[in-house]
Formats: sequence, structure tokens, C-alpha cells
Amino acid sequence: MTDRYAVIGNPISHSKSPLIHAAFARQTGQDMRYDAILGPLDGFEACVRQFMREGGKGMNVTVPFKIQAFELADRLTERARHAQAVNTLKFEADGSILGDNTDGVGMVRDIRDRLGAPIAGRRVLLLGAGGAARGVLLPLLDEQPACLVIANRTPEKALELKALCEGRGEVGVARFDELGSQAFDLVINATSASLGGEGLSLPAGTYDAGALAYDMVYGDRPTPFMQRAAEQGAARVADGLGMLVGQAAESFHLWRGVRPETEPVIAMLRKR
Ligand code: ATR
Repeated sequence: MTDRYAVIGNPISHSKSPLIHAAFARQTGQDMRYDAILGPLDGFEACVRQFMREGGKGMNVTVPFKIQAFELADRLTERARHAQAVNTLKFEADGSILGDNTDGVGMVRDIRDRLGAPIAGRRVLLLGAGGAARGVLLPLLDEQPACLVIANRTPEKALELKALCEGRGEVGVARFDELGSQAFDLVINATSASLGGEGLSLPAGTYDAGALAYDMVYGDRPTPFMQRAAEQGAARVADGLGMLVGQAAESFHLWRGVRPETEPVIAMLRKR
């Protein structure tokens, strides 16, 4: 029987997840169907339960339901508990719901495996301290970077994130204008500044020779952050399309036990 999955969000018509998972299913020969569901703003849980009753095996969860999904899950993976947000639900045979968050590990694998930029032993700068930054913190620290510095416009929020990492690795906090005295191998933009079309101005000297600038946001053209990074000496720039496909691949792995290749799917999306 064909197994059913879906992504739930509001809005949802723009979602690339059905396309991505259909491509994964073809690539790995899995018998499954994956739909997009518009979740009512006041009816997330009812919508999930309905999909479960219809025989659904799992769901991806996107804006604005990731925190509600976190609250709904009966069990959480450690990375979901740390992120306090869930983007993947797995419906277990006993009727319980497992909540996972694959955003961080999807990004880490994209950077490390697809782009070939090691994180272990490198100096990493994370820009932003909102939900997107929080979601990738633990998977980044698991790679054991030489140091991880969080820079945010509002320093208190960066300090809050640092406190969450107690015992997990060396985490520093800096203001944007304090950067520049230290150069980084990897700079990740987890702010929503690109969404408003703004570039983040970092001091000269933030990018070490060979540095990768990685934006979690993606688009048809290089984002303002990527453009600025290239001007300021980043050797390589990448947008977050690889992270989008990467997090999907990790969800697919959780559900199906196979990890699909992301590169051909990223290439397919770029062409569209
Ligand atoms: P998300 O869930 O996408 O992370 P969020 O939780 O609202 O969204 O966080 C947005 C992040 O982008 C925050 O770190 C925010 O900085 P503040 O904590 O100071 O608000 C950051 N951000 C948004 N616009 C920015 C801008 N123009 N310049 C710098 N940082 C910006």
C-alpha cells in the first residue's frame, strides 16, 4: 500500500516539499505519496489528527506551526527539545507521535558533505539569535568547531542562546561592531534581514581566506548577505536551498530509513 505523508503550514501553496519528496521517492524507489495541507490557523492539532486517522505516516511542519507541533508530540528527539520547535512528525504504530527537528542537521550535512566545508575544528560565526539560529545550534556544536560565536543585533538574545549551550561546547557572544578582530572560516546568516532585502554589514576582516558565507535564506538570485560577503572577501557563498533539501532528506530518512541524495534534487529546483 502507498504510504502517505504531507507538509502542513499556512500559507502552503509555495511549498517545495511535495516536489522534493516526490523526487526522493523516485530516486530511492519508495512507494509513497506526499501532499501539501493548508492548516487552519486555529485548527492545527485537529488537522494533524485527521491526517493520522486517514492513515498518514508522518508530516513536515512549517510556518507558523513548528511550536504547536513541538507541544503536540508525545516524544521528542534531543535536537527537537533543544530547538523547542518541530519540523517533522512521525506517527508510530502504537498511535503516538514522535517530534523531530531536522533543520540543523540538514544544514550541517549540506555545508559539510555537499559543499565540502568541514565544521570540526573551524571558527564558526552564527548571525542572529531567533528561532532559525536556535534550531541549528546543537547540530553545529555536535560537529565540534574550534569556536562558535553568536552575534545578534539584540545582545541579550544571543546570551540566552549561549546559556542553552551550557556544557555542549565553547560558545561566545559578540555584537556586530565587535566582529572583525577575529576572522571566521564559516559565517552563517540566521537573521531574517535578507527577507527584507537588507544585507548585513559586517566589519572587514570577518572572513578568513577560504571562508564560506552561508545564508539560510534562498532565492532566484544571490541574497544581499551573499553579495555583501563576496565583496568582503568570502571565498565561497551559498544560499539555503541546500538546507531546505537537506532537512527534507533527514525527514525522509527518519520515515523511510534511507537517506536520498540531495544534489540532483537541488539541481532540479534550481532549473525551475
Ligand atoms: P526566525 O524564526 O526566522 O529566526 P526571529 O525569531 O524573529 O525569526 O529572529 C529574527 C532574527 O533576525 C533575530 O536574530 C533578529 O535580530 P534581533 O534579535 O535583534 O531582533 C534578526 N534580524 C532581523 N532583521 C534584522 C536586521 N535588519 N539586522 C540585523 N538583524 C536582524
